[in-house]
Amino acid sequence: MGNYIYPDRDERLTSSLIKSYNETRWNLEEAYVLERVVETVGREKKLDVSMDVGTGFGRLIPFLLSISRKVIAIDADVWRLRKAMESFGSSPNVFFLWTTGSRLDPIPPESVDFINYSHVAQHVAHHELLETLGEFHRVLKEEGWVLFLTTHSEGREMFLVSTDEGAKEIKRDEYEELTLNPVFRQLPVRKFDVQHLESLLRECGFKLVWKVYYHIKPDFAPIADIGGEPSSLKPTEAIKNPSKEVKVIIENLERINSDEKKARKRALDVALLLKKG
Ligand SMILES: C[S@@+](CC[C@H](N)C(=O)[O-])C[C@H]1O[C@@H](n2cnc3c(N)ncnc32)[C@H](O)[C@@H]1O
Repeated sequence: MGNYIYPDRDERLTSSLIKSYNETRWNLEEAYVLERVVETVGREKKLDVSMDVGTGFGRLIPFLLSISRKVIAIDADVWRLRKAMESFGSSPNVFFLWTTGSRLDPIPPESVDFINYSHVAQHVAHHELLETLGEFHRVLKEEGWVLFLTTHSEGREMFLVSTDEGAKEIKRDEYEELTLNPVFRQLPVRKFDVQHLESLLRECGFKLVWKVYYHIKPDFAPIADIGGEPSSLKPTEAIKNPSKEVKVIIENLERINSDEKKARKRALDVALLLKKG
């Protein structure tokens, strides 16, 4: 862990993938998932403690602060954690910890209400994932939540390495090797088979509350012109008070999710809301 460097250091790989999607729709679909989380955990009373495991630049800290009083942000890459600290370190309710998801020793048992694990599972070795789930189970309170966001394939597990030249399929042991010994600009990506992932999560002591496939592939999504620059959009507000154009995006997402087989083909990512127990 000491010298772990997330190999996508300047974000070129992710942003080139996102470029093939409509940025506005991309952000709105994630906001839809987060809004469903708020509806499920309840908006009247804030939770006590949330943890953001693999916080990166802390992109989702504001969301976690909206549902909980305290946020503990964790990352294995100290450079990325420092970036998150630059943005959110002045908040008295945000605490930072440089560690991996599998080593949460400073966090007492049954002390956390909500864990956000967003797009980290697909970049870690299998044993790291298992140990991380064990740690989540240990630190969560009874009835605690995990929001598990990841990428998946169409019903077949795949391992890829994403480079500046594009993504190429690799063998599972090459994936494991790259996660343990990162190579600059070669990002290992595991695309889960959702059915297997769900069994694994169950075996590790979590029950599924709901699941949403999101980030609908461009061929299956409507062109909805919401006007203005994508950067001027406030996705959370737009989802809460949807315009006609935003409703088109939500309806498409919900229609696709009504048929799981189709959803697996048509969406890049999946959100699983889990409960300990
Ligand atoms: C794709 S980024 C996701 C960032 C953020 N969660 C988000 O959704 O924007 C993956 C992050 O996970 C971190 N990471 C990778 N392996 C980790 C591990 N074993 N424990 C904790 N963080 C890890 C990386 O350093 C990186 O910041």
